[in-house]
Amino acid sequence: MKKLEDINLEHKKVIIRVDYNVPLNENLEITDDNRIVESLKTLNYCLEHKAKVILLSHLGKVKTEEDKKKKSLRVVALRLSELLGKEVKFIPATRGKEVDDAVNNMQDSDVILLENTRFEDIDGKKESGNDPELAKYWASLGDVFINDAFGTCHRSHASNVGIASNMQEVCLGFLVRKELDNLLPIIDKPERPFTVILGGAKISDKIATVQNLIKKADYILIGGAMAYTFLKGKGIETGKSLIDEESLDFAKDVLKTTNKIILPIDHIVSTSTENSNYQIKNTLESDDIGLDIGPKTRELFKSYLLKSKTIFWNGPMGYYEKEVYQEGTKELCEFISNLDATSIVGGGDTASAIINMGFKDKFTHVSTGGGASLELLEGKGLPGINI
Ligand code: 3PG
Repeated sequence: MKKLEDINLEHKKVIIRVDYNVPLNENLEITDDNRIVESLKTLNYCLEHKAKVILLSHLGKVKTEEDKKKKSLRVVALRLSELLGKEVKFIPATRGKEVDDAVNNMQDSDVILLENTRFEDIDGKKESGNDPELAKYWASLGDVFINDAFGTCHRSHASNVGIASNMQEVCLGFLVRKELDNLLPIIDKPERPFTVILGGAKISDKIATVQNLIKKADYILIGGAMAYTFLKGKGIETGKSLIDEESLDFAKDVLKTTNKIILPIDHIVSTSTENSNYQIKNTLESDDIGLDIGPKTRELFKSYLLKSKTIFWNGPMGYYEKEVYQEGTKELCEFISNLDATSIVGGGDTASAIINMGFKDKFTHVSTGGGASLELLEGKGLPGINI
């Protein structure tokens, strides 16, 4: 595959697949614009080289007409316009006359953003199912295709793999290259000790990652709700904490085969996720819900982090939706930001937390891809990279 720098972009229509799947609050305001900010390098490069830029992205999952109201990319076009310092024309359609006219009327260095590619999923999953006709149509809009949506590289959809397979001039953007430059070395040859912190609720999404990491990492620190599935697997009382029942057998088996997994030794507990009153306990009782790692666990985790040369972190340590249960995540974040180690955050809520706390520059790399970086850590090739 060619490099972006080796492709002549002048006067060309350049389709860039970006990942503008950004978190929105209930007022549909963007709460973390990192993915937009990180896309600017490729965009500016194309604009400086007098390309006509056509942007495609998804935003969330779209299953019904109702979903469309909350998943429009219009708000993203506004933010991008502010960041670029120039007009970004939003086209409220994914195909048809409106799109064709907008593309045909573009001048050099114009930017347009089409509506959410997953609006095409309502009628038969055309985007997510990589519908050949849709992929061909999108490819017909441009001369060059750049995949710069790292967060979506683990998907084989019409707007990435589909377009690429219908075009001659195809390459990866600077954002994707930066991700690979930072993530591949820790998979291939991490400086040791290599410690992984895993959190969040579900284990089932992370089974393959855990299996691969047991081979690669020296320590795996587990917090968040997923810790309770492992603790239950050890026969420890977990009260009413969230358990990923379908992964319980996996957790039991893994614990028998390795001693690399380090679990919480105390907990911030309450009787409801809505309740801000909590207690610190070493062992849970039948009515307790574990909502964050306790102070002894924080110190235990820090002792492993202190001796680590490489750290990869995916998933919050507590029930992050409620501020009072964000403390464990925040404390580890602050601690890691002062360490002399390669520190990489794998997207999602942990990345948003670190960015919103102002620590982004203190980490070696904050990835824009949650699922994508985990699948890379599984040792898998990503379809969006191998285009
Ligand atoms: C992400 O947020 O991980 C990416 O944008 C992919 O989104 P998806 O999980 O809805 O495909």
